[in-house]
Amino acid sequence: MSIEERLEAINVFLNETRSFEPPPAFRRQANVRDERVYRDAATDPEKFWSRFAEELIWIKKWDRVLEWKPPYAKWFLNGKINASFNCVDRWAKSNLRTKKAIVWEGEPGEERTLTFGDLYEEVNKCADALKNLGVKKGDRVALYLPMIPEAVVAMLACARIGAIHNVVFGGFSAESLRDRINDSQVKVLITADGGYRRGKAVPLKKAADEALENTPSIEHVMVVKRVSCDVQMKPGRDHWWHDLMAKAKSECEPEPMDSEDILYILYTSGTTGKPKGIVHTTGGYLTGVYATSKWVFDLKPDDVYWCTADIGWVTGHSYIVYGPLANGATVFMYEGAPDWPQKDRFWKLIEKYKITIFYTAPTAIRAFMKWGTEWPASANLTSLRLLGSVGEPINPEAWMWYHKHIGHETCPVVDTWWQTETGMILITPLPGIVTTKPGSATKPFPGIGASVLNEQGKQVKTGGGYLALTKPWPAMLRGIYGDPDRFMSQYWSKWKNIYFTGDGAKIDQDGYLWLLGRVDDVLNVSGHRVGTMEVESALVDHPSVAEAAVVGRAHEIKGEAIAAFVILKEGIEKSEDLSKELKEHVAKKIGAIARPEDIIFAAEVPKTRSGKIMRRLLKNIAEGKVLGDTTTLADPEVIHRLKQQSEEEG
Ligand code: WTA
Repeated sequence: MSIEERLEAINVFLNETRSFEPPPAFRRQANVRDERVYRDAATDPEKFWSRFAEELIWIKKWDRVLEWKPPYAKWFLNGKINASFNCVDRWAKSNLRTKKAIVWEGEPGEERTLTFGDLYEEVNKCADALKNLGVKKGDRVALYLPMIPEAVVAMLACARIGAIHNVVFGGFSAESLRDRINDSQVKVLITADGGYRRGKAVPLKKAADEALENTPSIEHVMVVKRVSCDVQMKPGRDHWWHDLMAKAKSECEPEPMDSEDILYILYTSGTTGKPKGIVHTTGGYLTGVYATSKWVFDLKPDDVYWCTADIGWVTGHSYIVYGPLANGATVFMYEGAPDWPQKDRFWKLIEKYKITIFYTAPTAIRAFMKWGTEWPASANLTSLRLLGSVGEPINPEAWMWYHKHIGHETCPVVDTWWQTETGMILITPLPGIVTTKPGSATKPFPGIGASVLNEQGKQVKTGGGYLALTKPWPAMLRGIYGDPDRFMSQYWSKWKNIYFTGDGAKIDQDGYLWLLGRVDDVLNVSGHRVGTMEVESALVDHPSVAEAAVVGRAHEIKGEAIAAFVILKEGIEKSEDLSKELKEHVAKKIGAIARPEDIIFAAEVPKTRSGKIMRRLLKNIAEGKVLGDTTTLADPEVIHRLKQQSEEEG
């Protein structure tokens, strides 16, 4: 969608006049109480970031903070550091050894707690087990796991030995897993027999086996036993996690990593048919997520922090694992669905584990709103002191509901804007000092350069435009794995030496930023990025489909839902069954998150004279704005007429 359309779509946000000062009791105890941090960071960002870096433990200190040769940045040059050491050893070897690092509850209700001492032991053993499988520094290891503590252990074990983890969300299909393994030439896969979701065991190993039929780089597979379902173990290739762990040594030296050595690759959807492997390195990334966890979530030694994201997304990487653990925080993890066995599961967990900080996505909040206030009202939520939101624009109504019914009007709400590429939160309130407005992510984090620009790259003082990042930041992506050209064209070609986020934004008279969503061909479905082209290529892969065009349409809970316009091959008849089959086909090719909400059969896809799909027209059709009855689209005349109308309207 264009900026104009984005602005139009959220007109309601623009009239938002409510604002909330930080509650005085919160302000008094906040990690940041002095507004001068903004000015100081702007004056000397390198000094600002190096103060945070100095709070981490380095094997060897850097000799230069930043080298900026656009679009390539290097941070903390020649510094040597290990991320796993900073997240685990540092605390396990202090008086925090018995502090809870990970508190976990499985969907069926089992509890597990790992102290920093326990985490140390598990991470060391897993690191040694990986070494025994032949994994060396720089090798890629894929993780395809449910939300269990082993996921965190495996990530930190990779970081410990300098292996590059490539976590693939457990909801992705076998094909998506295969593509990600092949793109980064993964040597070892860590998966599980399955995981629980809404009372059922989701068979992960089975999907992994399907993926592994065509992944020549894979040498070994480590399988966690989680649900005890039947699995096929291929001799020589597949090993049980518990067997390897039992044989592994409980000490494994952390590898001294260069600040710019790769920590991980994480794939995300873009504007082409193929997801891109976003590359993050070690020193700057750790500094960025450490700093933002401390300041945005106001982490304190006694907090019990819960981020509901899956480990397969960047939010899980930065704000379940690296950021909070580098702060020595207690992290709560839950395996399953929010409505299992009942719609109060999250609130009961908050009550039971006395969660103090809760970080979730607007799509979840909108679902909670729909389910009704009686569910949160039935639990004691008084342990909460801060609420966060991430992943998509939060509408003011959802923000207010969250503030009132979950935060009981005493918890600051931090709406945090960032991306897989940015690695860390970039636009957010600092909860002790920034007045919030429902629906606005407020201001750039100190030291961050973010502006609203017009097409020509001129700064918009008030009004709408593109969100751009004008200064390098420590956790910024260092590239797209194996594809420097795409890195350049995707992010750095719109304006000179300025990063293009792909998001529209509005800046108001107080300088507050209102994020408007994507302005490229990326959809945001329930807070998950889905590329229109990926869905289109999954559809045309079906033998009945000749052509497909995919757009996002407004959806009450998901934010955006996928509407697919499909042109069938000669002689194929449209039907309800075929529509179902196509939806399943996409889910099977990509994963359930990409399953189209609507399949609309059409005689042709309306295109401009230059051959571009008229997505705006399609979106209006999908939202019921231009045509009462979409079945008439099977008539070429109707499409022709719509096209003409739309061209006349300009
Ligand atoms: C969107 C998730 C509005 C945005 C951390 C961005 C948001 C994309 C917000 C990145 C927010 C994320 N307000 N929009 N607070 N947070 N987005 O890579 O469109 O999965 O470009 O990273 O989500 O999604 P990603």
